[in-house]
Amino acid sequence: MYNVLPAISTSFILISGILVAIGWRLAVKRNLDAHKKVMIAGAVAALIFFIVYVSRTIFVGNTEWGGPEDLKTYYMIFLFFHITLATVAAVFGITTLTLAFRNSFEKHRKIGRITAVIWLCTAFTGALVYTLLYIMYPGGHTKPVLDILFG
Ligand code: HEM
Repeated sequence: MYNVLPAISTSFILISGILVAIGWRLAVKRNLDAHKKVMIAGAVAALIFFIVYVSRTIFVGNTEWGGPEDLKTYYMIFLFFHITLATVAAVFGITTLTLAFRNSFEKHRKIGRITAVIWLCTAFTGALVYTLLYIMYPGGHTKPVLDILFG
């Protein structure tokens, strides 16, 4: 049951990435009502990912690298890169939404383009982390996140 959670949360990252790509296209085509709806749906999908991820971190723990030892350092660097991207994407996402709701559309448009690119990179690297951790190699033990990062 617990192993299903990462698959669920990764699906939500992918769904939110696809929605942001569609939403961007809609904005370029000036279909702005649809843009708004699709981007809000993308933000909700990202929020669901975050809630599932945080709950799992608290109640179950995170999964250690289970692949070859010599790849572990590369995996850890890639994981940090992904976590950093995700954090930046969240800050930019909230800023972009706030600008839209305040009708600052000129700034929204400029920052929105950066947000969409970072968001898409986050979804892509997130799916890669999942593939490396669960599909290419069997996942290792599950431990609380602080033990994994510093233990
Ligand atoms: C995090 C979610 C969102 C992202 C990443 C985003 C991204 C973007 C991007 C990239 C553009 C410019 C498209 C281009 O010309 O290349 C844009 C334009 C626009 N967006 Fe969003 N958007 C988001 C949410 C929203 C929401 C919730 C609203 C409405 C309340 C909205 C309203 C608009 C409008 C009106 C424009 C046209 C601005 C102009 O051309 O002056 N967006 N958005």
